[in-house]
Amino acid sequence: MVASTVGIDAMAFHGPECFVDMVELATARGVDPGKYTKGLGQLEMAVATPCEDTVSLATVAARKCLTAFDIDPQEIGTLIVGTETGVDHSKPVAVYVHELLGLPSNCRTFETKHACYGAMAGLTSAIDWIVAGRARGKKALIVASDIARYGAGTPGEPTQGAGAVAMVVSETPRLLALDKEVFGDYTRQVMDFWRPLYSKYAFTDGHYSIDCYLDALSGAWSDAAAKAGSHDRVAMRNLNACFYHVPFVKMARKAHHRHWEVELGRSISREDEEHAMKVTDSFEVLVSPWLTLNAIVGNIYTGSLFLALIDYLRAADESREGGNISMFSYGSGCGAAFCFAKVVEGASRHAGRLDPSTALAARRKLAIAEYEEILAAYDAADANDGEHLSPARWKLRGDLFYIGTRNHIRQYYP
Ligand code: COA
Repeated sequence: MVASTVGIDAMAFHGPECFVDMVELATARGVDPGKYTKGLGQLEMAVATPCEDTVSLATVAARKCLTAFDIDPQEIGTLIVGTETGVDHSKPVAVYVHELLGLPSNCRTFETKHACYGAMAGLTSAIDWIVAGRARGKKALIVASDIARYGAGTPGEPTQGAGAVAMVVSETPRLLALDKEVFGDYTRQVMDFWRPLYSKYAFTDGHYSIDCYLDALSGAWSDAAAKAGSHDRVAMRNLNACFYHVPFVKMARKAHHRHWEVELGRSISREDEEHAMKVTDSFEVLVSPWLTLNAIVGNIYTGSLFLALIDYLRAADESREGGNISMFSYGSGCGAAFCFAKVVEGASRHAGRLDPSTALAARRKLAIAEYEEILAAYDAADANDGEHLSPARWKLRGDLFYIGTRNHIRQYYP
């Protein structure tokens, strides 16, 4: 039977146990702290130690999601991990997660890669699976898991971060019902950000990547509007919140500006004070309030859009139920999607289940010297039969860690 509704039933975030303060990082780099805190909008940045890899972050986020929303692993019929930070040229992160979660063997499992767009690609694939009637009552688990690394002293350094967002997609969503029909798509081959097979660090043409992102937003929105048949169905005045890919918080402001322009059908200059003011006011109402987690976690690539969504839903009260939202996903290289959803009745009852604030408050602040030590240790962490990685070295307290590679096989503890 074809599903009449499909959407997000459960969500959770899991991030590293350590972070750096952006004022301290700026000071260490000889940069005015205002550039990082106001110019980019970042206050803190999650730092993954070598023991916290894409697999462990993804698995713990998924466990939290299933447990908090009382979902039995046996209910999962599809598992997709979207990531830029794969751990193997061939073997998907998803199959490690499948084993660590104890998912059934008849669960189809794969990894999606398209820079920061990978999890949205997974989400759309899950929707198609359910709408096609192939889920047969089962649910899909989508995990966005990444460690953003540009390297010390690079322009991209303040836009690093790490973490994973897990979400369960089903025919009976408790959080968000997705618009199955109106999906705007956009693809263009551009060299704005890439990571060759031989490099652990991303290469990026940072300012060009911002232009590519904004052009992709225009393209994906225009496609969504054309598919909707009427601008009314996608109009911002009918939205209660707008979510964008957030490599750094200021990017969401630029995105919202472009969203306005594309809907208006012309650009808005600084001199056009009337419209410039409207965009600023609209940003403060529709976007800014739910960027607080992104500001203290940093860039988590595939999960950053969904982290903002968690921020919105964790504070949801009944007044948000029934409200419409938009979501824009961008992956460098590039691929993008613009889609729409509605907060379902009763969603506010689950707000406490997806709030990560307790774990975030328990994070340990790193001195900049220790952060740099971690970057150096990370470079050596994937050597075959290298040093046994000890979670105690970084005072980690979690319950799943990568501890090194033996006989070319990644080892996890416990
Ligand atoms: N106080 C307040 N704001 C300040 C400031 C200060 N002291 N100094 C600079 N700024 C502002 C700048 O005006 C600029 O704001 P604007 O974009 O609104 O004009 C912002 O801080 C960033 O400064 P900029 O000089 O552009 O930084 P940069 O050249 O070091 O590069 C990125 C910024 C984002 C391009 C770089 O961090 C990067 O390459 N990141 C990785 C790629 C990425 O995230 N791409 C995003 C699309 S996917």
